[in-house]
Order: sequence, then structure tokens, then C-alpha cells
Amino acid sequence: MCGIIGYTGNNEAAERIIYGLKKLEYRGYDSAGIAVADSGKIKRVRSAGKLENLVKKLKGGSIPGTTGIGHTRWATHGKPSDENAHPHTDCTGMITLIHNGIIENYYEIREELKKKGHKFSSETDTEVFAHLIEEKISMGIEKAVADALKRIRGMYAMVILYSKEPGKIIAARQGSPLVLGIGKGENYIASDVPSFLKFTDKALFLEDGDVAVVTKEKVSVTNGGKNVQRAVRDIKWTAKQAEKAGYPHFMLKEINEEPQSFEDTILGRFDELKGRIEFESVDDKKLAKIERIKIVACGTSYHAAYAAKYLVEKYSGVSVEVEVASEIRYANPVVDKKTLLVAVSQSGETIDTIEAFKNLKTKAGYSLAIVNVVGSTLSRMLDGVIYTHAGPEIGVAATKTFISQLAVLYLFALHMGKIKGVLKAKDVRRGIRNLRKVPGLIRLILKDREKIAKIAGKYKKNRDFLYYGRNINYPMALEGALKLKEISYIHAEGYAAGEMKHGPIALVDDKVPNVFIAPQGKVYEKLISNIQEIKARSGTIIAVTNKSNKEMKKFAEDVIYIPDIDEDYYPLLAAIPMQLLAYYIGVKKGIDVDKPRNLAKSVTVE
Ligand code: M6R
Repeated sequence: MCGIIGYTGNNEAAERIIYGLKKLEYRGYDSAGIAVADSGKIKRVRSAGKLENLVKKLKGGSIPGTTGIGHTRWATHGKPSDENAHPHTDCTGMITLIHNGIIENYYEIREELKKKGHKFSSETDTEVFAHLIEEKISMGIEKAVADALKRIRGMYAMVILYSKEPGKIIAARQGSPLVLGIGKGENYIASDVPSFLKFTDKALFLEDGDVAVVTKEKVSVTNGGKNVQRAVRDIKWTAKQAEKAGYPHFMLKEINEEPQSFEDTILGRFDELKGRIEFESVDDKKLAKIERIKIVACGTSYHAAYAAKYLVEKYSGVSVEVEVASEIRYANPVVDKKTLLVAVSQSGETIDTIEAFKNLKTKAGYSLAIVNVVGSTLSRMLDGVIYTHAGPEIGVAATKTFISQLAVLYLFALHMGKIKGVLKAKDVRRGIRNLRKVPGLIRLILKDREKIAKIAGKYKKNRDFLYYGRNINYPMALEGALKLKEISYIHAEGYAAGEMKHGPIALVDDKVPNVFIAPQGKVYEKLISNIQEIKARSGTIIAVTNKSNKEMKKFAEDVIYIPDIDEDYYPLLAAIPMQLLAYYIGVKKGIDVDKPRNLAKSVTVE
């Protein structure tokens, strides 16, 4: 949460920072601010609300200088206001900094500093850090920062400017992401790569405990006071991928990229003739010894993991538990050397998932991360990593990365099935054939998207929705409901349809649409019974079913058709209308679907 960007070089820092903040706005958009060092002074401009407010404030007033820092905020301590917007300063205005994370002991430090005469001008936890540095600034900025870091507990990504050393940015990381962009005669420090990708594709990811000193010529990193070397990686994403390319929203662009993301994720990972799956950095010998699997994730990634449970158990006979990261972190899960732990995360920076793995990793026989962002914390933390190759996802709602996670998890289920001797080469071949069909079939659904837009128009005023699915389509019901909540602010719940008579049927009336994911297959008749039970009580049905199902229109007010495929593969298609329905309802309600209120793309505080 929160986006940080720092720049030092020969160009106007403000320009580069505003450019970077535009790319980082998906991380938080409660307020924004910038500070630039020039001629022994630091000029700071801040504004509540979205970045455009800051840009308006800057218009006309120049903010010269070639070293600076900028921030787009997702509020933790203190409401979104000009005063609480970052950067924050000490009493002298010479030390100016930005912080992403939470300083847990800020209150006690603040009280202590107040007694020493420090004056605070915001309600944030961050401000204490500037004052802590001020206390020790006679030691020099680097030592003062090191000293201040010893005083705080919690999580942080910090960037700090000191007016007496105007070409320098000091950065520190503990728990919240920070990545350096290494340019020619200029360097960047940011929360995420797209903010500087237009200018350099060389990235250096900081580790927890790292402190970096960044000037335009040089970057040096220490950890625990000792110099450390961190690898510089080439980033394969292009800056163009992170643009809207003519679409009204990133979300729609990203949904339309799903066929490509899916293809990019599966290609190169199978040998169809031999009926074999191959993952680049996975140890198959370790997988062969596994007797249990625990998958840990949050939000949409959790729903992808949940679908995988059905498949992996069916294809390999290995028992799979799926856990919400924030819950398992404080529970006492049974993990042993026969257990495979899998983290699923788009960003690879979700704090709940990272923290859960810190405790569990050493107990497990083997651990794998399924991650989209190359070089992210989770991708570096576990024994193996499988990248989802979806490319950058800017819309706050996960769409194409969900499809790519499912792609990896389907491949993984087939792979596990083969390793455990449950699936034969011919079974895996059939699976691969299905997966290869998916991008083309998603394209067909996308072609017909206007029909979904029309249905969205009909239901945009409803205040509650229920989503139902059974078996492997149940997680798609959960995901459909989550997408609708996030993007349209409509209350929605996802249920296993078999649970309907255990409670939610009490909600049936003419005001709550019931979305059924009901392609034909082994549980289809059960779903039809559920639909009939709702109809008998005058409820409204929106059904997602397969194209060759001719009877559904008898039962449902609205039917969304997806192409026919082997029944295990329907989630890969059913997910698309779920996303489109939420998207169009959100847009028709006038919501900024790329930046829905209160959300941030990556949740880096607990
Ligand atoms: O980066 P991660 O996949 O770990 O993020 C997990 C969730 O925060 C994320 O999926 C969230 O639920 C999205 N807003 C879903 O659209």
C-alpha cells in the first residue's frame, strides 16, 4: 500500500516523480505529495485526494531541483488530508521523508519527543521518524538514520532527503517493498518497477534490513551496518504494457489481455506429445515425497488456490488445504516434512502471506511461490518459484493475473497427478489439449461482451447479489462476489449452492439477483434444483452456462453463455463473465473501477 518514488539525476526531479506517481497510483490514492531538494532547501507540496489534485496544485508554481521524492498514500494513521499527506519533515524542515508501512511504537516515541520540545503537525505515525533523525543529526544523516531505525518497531519502506546533502536519497526497507531503478547518470527508488520502467529496465530489489544510499552516480547498500551486494535484474516487462492502450480503463484492458496472459503462462511449460509438464525452478524429486499440500493466499489469489484444491485432489490423490494467510499466521497449523507449502500471490508483497511463510517455511518439506511480480519478496523467499507471466496489472481488481494463476495451478495439478502416478501421459495430454483451447475460447467470450454489458445495465441498481456454484465452480462464485463488491460497491456473497437451504435461501425475494455458475456436468442437476427452489420463491436468476445447454433459458431471466469444454476446465471460462459483469456494473454506476475506494493493489500492512 502507498506508492513511493525517489529520483536523483540530471533531469527535473518533479517531472520524473509525477510520472512515477501516475504509475503507482494503484497502490493508494487518498493523498499525494512531493519534495524536491535544491540549493540547500527542500520544497514540499502536498494535497489530499487523488494525484490529479497535487498536479493541479503544482501547475504554474515550479519546483526545481534534480533530486526528490514523491508519494501516493493509502491512509493508516490519520485521515486523508493535506497535513497527513507525505512527505513529512522534522522541526527544521531540513529532513524530509516518506514512509510506507506502520511504525507500531510511534505513540510512545511521539510523547517522548514532545517532552523534548518537538512540535508535530500531522496525525501520522511517520512524522516521528523525521524527528528521531533530527535528534541525532549532529552524527551526520546516515548515522542519524541508522540510529532512528533502531528505535522503531513495525514495517517500513522509507525514503529520506536531507537539505544539506541535496543529491542524496537514503532508503530503508523492513517488510514493505522497495526497488532501485539503476539508470545511466540517474537512479530511482520506488515501491514498484512500472514507475521507472520507461527510463531503465535494470532493477535492484532491497531486502529486509537493507539501507541504501542513492546518488545519481552510485548506489550502496548495507545491512546491519555491513556492505552487501544485491543482484541487478533485467526486467522483461515493457513500459507500454503498463499503459491503457486506448481502453477506457486498465481493468477492461487487462480482461482483454487474458487470452494472451494465459498463453504466455502455459507456453514452454509442457511437452504435449510426451504428456509432460515442466516448471523451470521446481524440484520434482521433492514433489514426489509430498503427502499433503497447504496453499496460502489472500483475496482473489485465495480463490484461485481454492479451485486448485479440487483439481489437485482429483488428479493426484494428495490432500490439499487452502488457508487465508491472515488466519493461518496466528493459528497453529500442522506442517511437517511431508507437507508442500504453496504461496499464491500476484504482487508477491502481500504482508499476510509473507508473514505466514516466515513462520511456516522451515517446518515444511518443500515450498513454492506462484507469483506474478518478478523479484518480489515471495518470489525470493521460498524454495521454488513459478511465475504467472501475466505482465503488469495496474487495475486494482485482479483479473488477468487470476486467470494466469489458474493456468499455473491447472498445470501444477496435472504435473502432481503424473508425479503421483494417478494420471497417465494420455491424461496429461488431454489436460494440455484443454488448456491450449482456453485462450481461443476466452476470445469468444470477450467478443460477446456487449451482451454482458446489457445485463449489467439491468441490475446496476440492485443492492445485494448472491453468487452460487458447486464443486470446482464454487470458488468462481466466491470470486464473482468479491469482484462485484470491489468494483461496484454492491453487497455480494458467494456460496456453495448446496449450502443454499442452510441459510441464504431466506434472502430470496425479487430484489436480490442470484448468479449461478451452472455449466453442464456432474453437479448440473443439483444446481438446477437450487435454481428451481429460488424460482418457486419468485427469485431472479442470472445463469452462466455452456453454449450447448438449450434448457437454461427456461429457468433464468438472463443467461450468459460460455463455450463448451471438458467440465473441469469451466472455471477458466466462467471467471471472465464474472469479471465483465462486475466491470460493467461498476462503470454504469460511475465508479472509478481502476481505483475503487479504500482499496490498494497490494496490501503491505496488516
Ligand atoms: O498480490 P496478492 O495476490 O497477494 O493480493 C491478494 C489480494 O489482496 C488481492 O487478490 C485482492 O483481493 C484484489 N483486490 C482482488 O481483486
